Amino acid sequence: MLDDNEKLYPPSDAFAAKAHADRATYDAMYQASIEDPEAFWAEHGKRIDWIKPYTRVKDTSFAPGNVSIKWYEDGTLNVAANCIDRHLETRGDQTAIIWEPDSPDDDALHITYRELHRNVCKFANVLKSMGVGKGDRVVLYMPMIPEAAYAMLASARIGAIHSIVFAGFSADALAARINGCDAKVVITADGAPRGGRITNLKDNVNKALLHDTDDVKCLIVRRTGQQIAFRSANDFWLHEEEEKVSADCPPEEMAAEDPLFILYTSGSTGQPKGVVHTTGGYLVFASMTQKYTFDYHDGDIFWCTADVGWVTGHSYIVYGPLANGATTLMFEGVPTYPDAGRFWAVCDKHKVNQFYTAPTAIRALMGQGNQFVEPYDLGSLKVLGTVGEPINPEAWNWYNDIVGKGRCPIVDTWWQTETGGHLLTPLPGATATKPGSATLPFFGVQPVILEPTTGAEIHETVAEGVLCIKDSWPAQMRTVWGDHERFEKTYFSDYKNYYFTGDGCRRDADGYYWITGRVDDVINVSGHRMGTAEVESALVAHPKVSESAVVGYPHAVKGQGIYAYVTLMGGEEPSEELRKELEVWVRGEIGPIAKPDLIQWAPGLPKTRSGKIMRRILRKIAENDYGALGDTSTLADPSVVDDLIENRMNR
Ligand code: WT7
Repeated sequence: MLDDNEKLYPPSDAFAAKAHADRATYDAMYQASIEDPEAFWAEHGKRIDWIKPYTRVKDTSFAPGNVSIKWYEDGTLNVAANCIDRHLETRGDQTAIIWEPDSPDDDALHITYRELHRNVCKFANVLKSMGVGKGDRVVLYMPMIPEAAYAMLASARIGAIHSIVFAGFSADALAARINGCDAKVVITADGAPRGGRITNLKDNVNKALLHDTDDVKCLIVRRTGQQIAFRSANDFWLHEEEEKVSADCPPEEMAAEDPLFILYTSGSTGQPKGVVHTTGGYLVFASMTQKYTFDYHDGDIFWCTADVGWVTGHSYIVYGPLANGATTLMFEGVPTYPDAGRFWAVCDKHKVNQFYTAPTAIRALMGQGNQFVEPYDLGSLKVLGTVGEPINPEAWNWYNDIVGKGRCPIVDTWWQTETGGHLLTPLPGATATKPGSATLPFFGVQPVILEPTTGAEIHETVAEGVLCIKDSWPAQMRTVWGDHERFEKTYFSDYKNYYFTGDGCRRDADGYYWITGRVDDVINVSGHRMGTAEVESALVAHPKVSESAVVGYPHAVKGQGIYAYVTLMGGEEPSEELRKELEVWVRGEIGPIAKPDLIQWAPGLPKTRSGKIMRRILRKIAENDYGALGDTSTLADPSVVDDLIENRMNR
């Protein structure tokens, strides 16, 4: 018996017939990828161009104390040459990037591969003239403008390692990331228009570099034309520097395992960690998933609505699509500006074929009503994708019926910053989908479900536990920047010889995977990962806060909201004003995405006799499910809980 949300949506025969993979192809390729990974990836590594071909394909170990991941180790290549130069002969005049600005009244840009080549080479020469070379780190703090892609590709071209900081992060968060990787240059813009409002990016960079003593240079793209404060002789306008350099910049020959980028992401403890991705395996996997997951065909217009500040933007706005010679759309704005029809207006205007967004955006737009979708012709759409969190069946059905008109397969892609590309996903011509399930593994991926406490692998098809991956795939992160020990500890120590994802998961009778959410102290707010420990340290940094505990709770649009319990310093009184002050404070410490949705004043927090905060109880109260608190007998002071229940915020 199928329960309602396990209804099957098979691809149509017509779709399957034209797809890169139908069910039989998927089954055969998947089987081959697991039976002989070496042979499979030796073959598929050829989808990109190598300067010196590899002879060694896979050299990976998840063994405790000796975690080491290497793919295509002796091959050399350049990512920018793969994303640009190799397409020039066949598609120099094809649009590489369509840029849609924040305001629909401004003109969109169509940048051809030839133009992309020139812009990236110039950009790369500017970076060189500023002293950036192979292995140096470059931080990007950028609006969603073509120059963000140029900066990524220019770094890759000269062998520099980029680290993008989402433009919504605060100056403090930016400073931590600049210092974390000892960046030589920060690339930014005067300002970032989003939803009709402007973020003063250069101001934030100035704040971030205020106490910097390393003479970090800053390269500024003129976007808004607003007045900005130049710091010193270390600040440069891109347009001025570009006048001084040539458009000739041969790509640097890089080893497959040279780092391509660092991307900071939140974990369950301490400060965000710098996830390191390397060159060869990453590009093979990003491009292969972009082709198969979205069934991308030559000439299609591909739109991923993410920001390049997140891994989704790296793999599915820039590297995956461009390596495939695709036309990729880059959108500067937000889904609700000037109104909740903007996504559909852009799909109609540019005749988008594959559209990839997050459940939180779908829920927000669904809530505004179908009248925002109806005016537009969405006939060009062929495949719809989602990423970031489990999609609830209601949102799935709306996406399917109202946006896709029942014609477009939906691919629910499960992956992580750490995985570089899709690990669990339907293929649109192959997989019958079920609303809310990320379905089956991509080629070469071996998911397993472990019993959480013993770590034993559950071999029965129907299973529930923690999701681990048994063997490496080419785009797996290689290390935490500057801290390999933390890499091993975070991902390979709880469950020996497996990569631990941090997610809970269920496998149904058809072998389909259903992500049930994080099992660690990470919450998922609007598809963005937030460490509760990070928000807690931001709160306790406030002079009036003595202690805090942060948990997630179900939120209709965001998926999870941020619920903060705050204990004030002796003598401090709770007030609405202080509540506002703390919200503003957290925005300043981390960024708007970390602002608590609910703050509860907690005279005390439930602790064990050894002083450990019992988060399980706090989660239950935040979920307004305090009837089932479970075992509270180890509490040092049970009366604390009564007070918290009495004054709970999420009624
Ligand atoms: C976490 C990774 C990968 C880009 C976006 C987020 C959750 C991601 C899904 C999905 C259910 C999902 C997981 C994962 N997640 N995609 N399709 N279904 N959950 O990247 O910030 O690294 O977060 O997002 O919990 O561990 P991220």
